[in-house]
Amino acid sequence: LQADILFINVESEEELTRIESLAKSINTIARISVRVNPNIDAKTHPYISTGLHENKFGVDIEQAKSMYIFAKNSPFLEPVGIHFHIGSQLTELEPIKQAAQKIAELAHSLLALKIDLKFFDVGGGIGIQYTNETLINPYDYAQAILGALYGLDLTIICEPGRFLVGNSGVLLTSVLYEKHNGTKRFVIVDAAMNDLIRPALYHATHTIKCLSQSKQGQNDSAKLCDIVGPICESSDFLAKNIALPPLSTGDVLMIRDAGAYGYSMASNYNTRPRPAEVAFMGENVRLIKHRENIESMLKDEEELLQEYKNDTAKSIHSKKGIENDTTR
Ligand SMILES: Cc1ncc(COP(=O)(O)O)c(C=O)c1O
Repeated sequence: LQADILFINVESEEELTRIESLAKSINTIARISVRVNPNIDAKTHPYISTGLHENKFGVDIEQAKSMYIFAKNSPFLEPVGIHFHIGSQLTELEPIKQAAQKIAELAHSLLALKIDLKFFDVGGGIGIQYTNETLINPYDYAQAILGALYGLDLTIICEPGRFLVGNSGVLLTSVLYEKHNGTKRFVIVDAAMNDLIRPALYHATHTIKCLSQSKQGQNDSAKLCDIVGPICESSDFLAKNIALPPLSTGDVLMIRDAGAYGYSMASNYNTRPRPAEVAFMGENVRLIKHRENIESMLKDEEELLQEYKNDTAKSIHSKKGIENDTTR
């Protein structure tokens, strides 16, 4: 409210009354938009599907209507927009089209109640290429939204996340060892589910390539393997059953399309320092995030940090492994 942003997307009656009381306390008018849950299956992974009533997001059409009427009658609220976001990594246009039409119908019925909105916020969700997905064409996407808005004078707001940055990031990792359990081949690398959780969380597939010069052109010798990290979970995998040539300690693998929901979902699970982040623009290379280390991870745990700093603790923790871990 103090930053005076364009509007606040509200997604429950409770949130609306809270915003109203905050606006009242600083004697301002809060511009709001209601996030409507159109109950449409976005046909994506259930963990990133947000537009069904079984998902926690938004309010249904009838509840949205009563929230708009409440906001219109409040001296501290101004309804200016309407919002939906039915999911992420969407590869089918039809659910988006249906949702846009349903939300536009609601905007029409609000107009009949003299609630004249200005903004139509279509959320994000446009899917990107990880392997062989068929993608939504941005032109068709725009036409679907515009088609729904026929007869309404609304400015479109969109919030694409993955679509902007997903394909522009890669995660580099070094091979630690190859290991065979019976006929099963594992390649153990120094990145793990704490660095890129998408495979473990969503069964997501990322294309993985070996960058080591000596392994280029060895496609004939490629055999199926799982790429796994050093974490104590069977869900600690970065890929399953992908074909790669025989790999040796130190070979560098590139995990593609890790620019969205990659570092932002990374954690320190298993006391693993997060990797450095480097940005490229043309010839320019910038370190945009330092590699974490044990000291930076413990900085808010003063007693532990002190312990770590004395020599005895240092030898117990054995920093050696972490110092050797230079790629991730
Ligand atoms: C309301 C809203 N808008 C936009 C986004 C961005 O989504 P995406 O990265 O799929 O474009 C999200 C993601 O969760 C969201 O919740």
